[in-house]
Amino acid sequence: VDRRSNKNIVSRIKRGLDALDRQLGRLGEIGSSLALTLIAILASCAAHFVLKSAEGHYAMTMAGFCNVALETGIVAMPLIFYARNMIAQLKNSRHALEEMSRRLAITAEEAHQANRAKSAFLANMSHELRTPLNAIMGFSEVMKDEHLGPMSNPRYLSYVGDIHDSGRYLLGIINDILDLSKIEAGKMTLDNAEEFPLRDAVEGALGLIANLGGKFGVRVVSELPPADLQLMAVDRMIRQILINLVGNAIKFTPAGGSVHVSGVLEKDGGYALSVRDTGIGMNEEEIEKALTPFGQVENKATAKHTGTGLGLPLAKAMVELHDGTLTVHSMPMEGTTIVLRFPPHRISSASAAVAA
Ligand SMILES: Nc1ncnc2c1ncn2[C@@H]1O[C@H](COP(=O)(O)OP(=O)(O)OP(=O)(O)O)[C@@H](O)[C@H]1O
Ligand SMILES: [Mg+2]
Repeated sequence: VDRRSNKNIVSRIKRGLDALDRQLGRLGEIGSSLALTLIAILASCAAHFVLKSAEGHYAMTMAGFCNVALETGIVAMPLIFYARNMIAQLKNSRHALEEMSRRLAITAEEAHQANRAKSAFLANMSHELRTPLNAIMGFSEVMKDEHLGPMSNPRYLSYVGDIHDSGRYLLGIINDILDLSKIEAGKMTLDNAEEFPLRDAVEGALGLIANLGGKFGVRVVSELPPADLQLMAVDRMIRQILINLVGNAIKFTPAGGSVHVSGVLEKDGGYALSVRDTGIGMNEEEIEKALTPFGQVENKATAKHTGTGLGLPLAKAMVELHDGTLTVHSMPMEGTTIVLRFPPHRISSASAAVAA
């Protein structure tokens, strides 16, 4: 019972001091220090006064230092008690923090390893899948084009066409997975990078999906980069990025809308290429989802179109591989603008030199 009542008193003192600390905390660093000093002076004076008035008592007159000791004890004890308590709490928090960061480091390493294992697995799987797919596509092409003689039944001919198209679609997905896992595993290099006119890549990519715009009733307008602007990059990747982005812009824009592709030479000598649409747009949360592999925003448009959710994250990874950035600006029902920025060291152009 005694211990419990002691604990009660201790926790009450602690609560009281906590409340005092909270109130004083409002006065700021200097204000609270001044207030504490004032409290200490007042408490000392009060203790001094009480003890002085008791000086007649024989214990007090016995030894003057008892006076001092008692005064100091009365003033300092609560402060020391509080300080010790705070230090103990701080030590505990430090231990908890150390433990947490240790666990976090372990978790991060585990996640890293799991990601590496996943990338290696995907890379292997993709190779395994590509080999039979190439056979399916090669032979179905031979049959489709009737290289070895005519197909007697026209329905076989249409089935073979479907096999070939499905194979190509599957190969596209597998290639995307392979590319993304290679980039994530840090195994994709820019060994094939070369200087080429960015204009050609934009024109080529737009040419490939021009009919998609027509199919969905979306107008595609482009302002091509200057003819002398050269980009140091892997041509195939730049075309793929553009096909993905313009393809998305067309897919997620209702009929009657438009897609603008334009570029601008930036002050620092870099080049920014944007793909802007007047489509369904996305909110912040949806943008984050769209940028994660296999992430697709659930809406009527995604339900209507085919896709695996790899195009956008792959485009971002490929731009970043070229030391560039991909940023998404979007508002629901207003449209989306995706900006690709290439750094100055990848750009060379006579007009850039003039601008500089
Ligand atoms: N321009 C855009 N406007 C609105 N939503 C978009 C736009 N671009 C992408 N999204 C959203 O982001 C999701 C992910 O895009 P991403 O290109 O990665 O996948 P996908 O187009 O669905 O499939 P894939 O590109 O693999 O064929 C899309 O499913 C769509 O919900
Ligand atoms: Mg896409």
